[in-house]
Amino acid sequence: MAEDKVKNKVIRFGVIGCGLMGKEFASAVARWCHLTDVNFEPQIIAICDANSAASAWFVRAVPSVKYVYVDYKDMLANTEVDAIYCAVPHNLHEQIYIDIISAGKHLLGEKPFGIDKEANERILQTIADHPQVIVRCSSEFPFYPGAMHITKWVKEGRFGRIIEVEAGFWHSSDLDPSKPINWKRRIATNGEYGCMGDLGLHVLHLPLRFGWQPQSVRALLNKIVEERPDGQGGMAPCETWDNAILACDVLTETQQFPMILSTKRIAPGHANTWFIRIQGTEFSAEFTTKNPKQVASLPYVPGGTQAWHVADVPYHSAYGTITGGIFEFGFSDSILQMWAAFCDELVNGREGMLQPFQCALPEEAAGSHDLFTAALESNRSGDTIRLY
Ligand SMILES: NC(=O)c1ccc[n+]([C@@H]2O[C@H](COP(=O)([O-])OP(=O)(O)OC[C@H]3O[C@@H](n4cnc5c(N)ncnc54)[C@H](O)[C@@H]3O)[C@@H](O)[C@H]2O)c1
Repeated sequence: MAEDKVKNKVIRFGVIGCGLMGKEFASAVARWCHLTDVNFEPQIIAICDANSAASAWFVRAVPSVKYVYVDYKDMLANTEVDAIYCAVPHNLHEQIYIDIISAGKHLLGEKPFGIDKEANERILQTIADHPQVIVRCSSEFPFYPGAMHITKWVKEGRFGRIIEVEAGFWHSSDLDPSKPINWKRRIATNGEYGCMGDLGLHVLHLPLRFGWQPQSVRALLNKIVEERPDGQGGMAPCETWDNAILACDVLTETQQFPMILSTKRIAPGHANTWFIRIQGTEFSAEFTTKNPKQVASLPYVPGGTQAWHVADVPYHSAYGTITGGIFEFGFSDSILQMWAAFCDELVNGREGMLQPFQCALPEEAAGSHDLFTAALESNRSGDTIRLY
C-alpha cells in the first residue's frame, strides 16, 4: 500500500573543499532521517577539491554526487546548484566566498570567514551587494543541549548582575611535537591570527549573540612548539600562535563585566573542549563539552545557600530527532543540528524558521575579526586595545 509521504523541499548543494569538514557535512546529509518534523533536506549533487583523493572519497560515499570539479568556478556556473558549503584553508576564503556570493549561490562558509580583517571586510561588502543570497558561518557548539540551556537562561535574564564570563575552546593534539606541520601552522595559509582564527569564532558565537561585544582587549599570545616535521625528513617552523588568552571588557546597555576568552591548541588533556561559564549575582551556569550530558547551575537568593546543581540534560537540541531523551549528544549531532538551522533558514526564511536559533551571522564573524585584530596589536604592544 502506498504511504502518504510529505515531501521535504530539497536544497541542492555543492561542496568546495572535501577534507575533514566537507566529509562531516556529507555524513550529516546521509543521516538526515535522524531529524523529525523538518520540511527541508540537503542533497549534495556537486563537489570540488584540488586533491583527487579527497573527491574520490565523496564519489564513493555519496551516491547523489553528479558533478565532480577541480576548479570551483565550474561549479558556480552549474545552475542546478542552489547552495554551497565551502571548507577550504583560510587564505582561500576571500576569493572563493566572494565568487560564490556573486554567483548568487547561498553559502555556509567556514570560519574565520577570511584570513584577516581586510579579507573579511571584502566578503562582508559582497554580502551587502547581494542581499538576496543567504550567507552564514559554520559554528556548531551552541547546538549542544547544555549550550542551548545557557542561551535560554541568558534570554530569560536569569543571571542578575553578571560578575564575569569565561569561554574557551581547547585542543591538545599539538602537544605532540612529532605531529607533522600542516596548513594550520603556517601564516600564509592559516593567517596571522593562528589559534584565534581557527578556534575563536566558536568561542565568540554565543557571547556575540548575547550582545557581549568586547570594548577592549589585553591579549597574551603564545608559541609553544617552534618547529615540526615537514614530512620530507626535515623540520619546518611553526609560524602561528598556539595559544591565546584574551582579557576583554564588555559594556552592554545595562552591564559592564570582564570576559576571559581563550583558544588553545596546546591544552594538555583536552581533546576538543568547548566551554562557557557565566557567573551572576542571582544565577551562575556552566557547560563544557568535556561533560557533554551535564549542565551546571547555581541559583542564588541573598543569604541563601550557594549550591551547584549538576543535571543530565536530555538529548534535546534545536530540532527534534528520533533519539530518545536519555541518550548522549555529540559533535556530529551538533553538526547535523547546525545544518538543519541553515537549511531551515534557506527554505522557511528567517521569520518562518521552525525554531529561532540561527547559524552564526556574517556580522558575528566580523565581530570576531575586530577582536582578533585588536588582540594581535595588544600582544605586540603590551597595551590594552580599545575596539569601540
Ligand atoms: N566547524 C568546525 O568545527 C571546523 C573544524 C575544523 C576546520 N574548520 C574549518 O574548515 C575549513 C577547512 O578545514 P578542514 O579542517 O576541513 O581542512 P582540510 O585540510 O581537511 O580540508 C581542506 C580541503 O580543501 C581542499 N582545497 C584546497 N585548495 C582548494 C581549492 N583551490 N579548491 C578546492 N579545494 C581546495 C584541500 O584539498 C582539502 O581537501 C577551515 O576554514 C577551517 O577553519 C571548521
